Amino acid sequence: MRVRKAVIPAAGLGTRVLPATKAIPKEMLPLADKPTIQYVIEEAVNSGVEHIIIVTSRTKRAIEDHFDESPELAAALAKKGDQRKLDMLRRIEEMAQISFTRQPAPRGLGHAILMARDLVGDEPFGVLLGDDLVVNDERPCLRQLMDVHERDGGCVIAALDVPREQTRLYGVFDLEPGPGPDPRTHRVRDLVEKPAPDAAPSNLAVIGRYVLTPDIFAALERTAPGAGGEIQLTDGIRTLIGTEPIFAHEFTGTRYDTGDPVSYLTTSLAFALRRPDLAPGVKAFLRSLPPLDETELD
Ligand code: G1P
Repeated sequence: MRVRKAVIPAAGLGTRVLPATKAIPKEMLPLADKPTIQYVIEEAVNSGVEHIIIVTSRTKRAIEDHFDESPELAAALAKKGDQRKLDMLRRIEEMAQISFTRQPAPRGLGHAILMARDLVGDEPFGVLLGDDLVVNDERPCLRQLMDVHERDGGCVIAALDVPREQTRLYGVFDLEPGPGPDPRTHRVRDLVEKPAPDAAPSNLAVIGRYVLTPDIFAALERTAPGAGGEIQLTDGIRTLIGTEPIFAHEFTGTRYDTGDPVSYLTTSLAFALRRPDLAPGVKAFLRSLPPLDETELD
């Protein structure tokens, strides 16, 4: 079945990047000059999604304002005759149909997805987590998962090989032996949320892009709090194993993390270097830096 909707959970407290996120939603922190969530929405739109549902919480109003009209700004730009920036504003405001719903308390990723139930209805949908950015200019990551779902049905989850010592940061796949429906797509036997390296069933990790069937909602309702005392999406998906196919898809593209201060900074730099208008200035600055002296790093 065709995937028309996508959910973006944006209700988290963002404690890993405090104090930046004390009053500003972490989804609004810019990479170069664009809020992180705008890249994520662009990926959904470029994948063919028509309706985006953002799950927010208190202190997240800036996200709604960003995608709404801004008459004062438009009037000021019109007065200045700055058509380029006016066009940019219009593109943001007309990007997609966006609905907002709230998660009243931080009860976990699975619970946040459950909040979108009425807006999604009885159809398959995409999920994009804003801490993960995936760059593929030809075929966005979500599109790749949608193609697998539209061919093989079931739930499809983005997969990436990670170093064994990092399994504690991710959901990790346990794959069925034998070939999957194509060389990059594997049948999932089980999923483990954030296992220790020696308990991880593989090195293949869940990255924050999913296509889920609406069966996930009833599954999440039955899911008890798991890791961290929260209702985990991974646990909800686990309960669907055996009732419908669950696939891990090794996507093509480059994945960037923004969830902690160092990855946020390096991803911001990488995104600035991808921009023809910003790259020359950033490169000139990088070239001007004296060679790093190892002793300074202690
Ligand atoms: C979430 C998921 C985890 C997944 C990760 C990808 O964890 O629970 O399974 O591997 O996103 O970024 P979080 O990073 O929100 O703790």
